[in-house]
Amino acid sequence: MDIYQPIKLPCGAVLKNRLAKAAMTERFSNGDLKPNQKHNILYEKWAQGGSGLLITGNVMLQAGHLESAGNVVADNDNITEFQRWAKSATSTGHHCWVQLSHSGRQTSIFNNLRPVSASNIKLKKLGFFAKPRPLKEEEILMLIDRFADSAKLCKEAGFTGVQIHAAHGYLVSQFLSPNTNKRTDDWGGTLEHRTRFLLEIIKATRQAVGPEFPISVKLNSSDFQKGGFNEEESLWVIKKLEALGVDLLEVSGGTYENAEFLLAGNVRQSTLKREAYFLDFAQKVRKESSIPLMVTGGIRSMEFCNQALKDDLLDVIGMARPYLLYDDFATRFLARELTPEAFTIRTGVKALEDMAEAGFYNLQLDRLGQNLPVRLDYSAARSALHLIKHEFVKAMANKFS
Ligand SMILES: Cc1cc2nc3c(=O)[nH]c(=O)nc-3n(C[C@H](O)[C@H](O)[C@H](O)COP(=O)(O)O)c2cc1C
Repeated sequence: MDIYQPIKLPCGAVLKNRLAKAAMTERFSNGDLKPNQKHNILYEKWAQGGSGLLITGNVMLQAGHLESAGNVVADNDNITEFQRWAKSATSTGHHCWVQLSHSGRQTSIFNNLRPVSASNIKLKKLGFFAKPRPLKEEEILMLIDRFADSAKLCKEAGFTGVQIHAAHGYLVSQFLSPNTNKRTDDWGGTLEHRTRFLLEIIKATRQAVGPEFPISVKLNSSDFQKGGFNEEESLWVIKKLEALGVDLLEVSGGTYENAEFLLAGNVRQSTLKREAYFLDFAQKVRKESSIPLMVTGGIRSMEFCNQALKDDLLDVIGMARPYLLYDDFATRFLARELTPEAFTIRTGVKALEDMAEAGFYNLQLDRLGQNLPVRLDYSAARSALHLIKHEFVKAMANKFS
């Protein structure tokens, strides 16, 4: 087994190889929450790279509940723009799936001064996030339908699958975690009740898209916080997802309060165990479940990829940042012409590290979306400031927040 082998998913869809571009929020929209030319340029370029799977960045369910002020919303009014985007993204016959998400309490004050969540637990993050109000039951049911309707819209637009974002502390992850879900009704308390929102989303989405359309879930192995969603709970959830026929599970970890998925280690070519942040957990998943498994976070070398596939530790290799360090990452990586360099961007101020990291890569996304080459000489401080300014300016332009 190696990275060039196809994989057939439970729904029957086939990925032509095992390399997947993991989701990276594009932040491209300008006030109208619609995909635009930058999305088309970027995804056409990535489609040409030959990755078996591209997963879009967060696409949101509703205006006002944005993970970034530059997000797009899967809405019937935007179907023409989604069709153009899907056409570019699938132009070479590879899969492109839309990541569907609701930001919940991780919606910044630039976008919403009264976000919603499972409960009223405020995010502790530099004062950028307001205290959320708990969702009412009728709102929870409406959001489940919204996930399903959005997935249907993505299918109708020409995308070839969807991924439900249940990781990184966004709304579904807020329901899963005992730290953020303090509800005493059937949507909180026991693990079974905390998982209900996710499972109902999967059931409704399957109903909406039919049996042959891939549905993936991105799930935290753990929140990496005391009292949070932990590995044991995650393994229990995974068995439920497998029983529902989820086509690809992507494992990651962390939340905005502890961005383990971005900062878990220095990127380096290294031993099998040290290269992938979540490999230990993946091995536990493998023991307990046969759900197709994608692992993302820190993976860089072809040597690692092929060894991990050969040893049957995972099924699909997820990579994100390397796609933004080179103009044509996947083409050269798959041709064995490139091992991504060890690249880190740090301010030295703990509270700002994830912003510098996200800001730096957002600058690269913006360049690639304009057909400009990547440029790696932005400083950490400039990158962090870029992100804050970008979010503020775009939020002011949004008509809907
Ligand atoms: C700029 C940027 C944006 C990201 N946006 C998303 C996102 O929209 N959804 C998501 O699930 N993960 C997102 N991530 C996390 C990546 O999908 C991935 O889990 C993380 O970068 C670790 O993989 P890597 O070491 O290969 O970069 C983002 C990461 C970066 C760098």
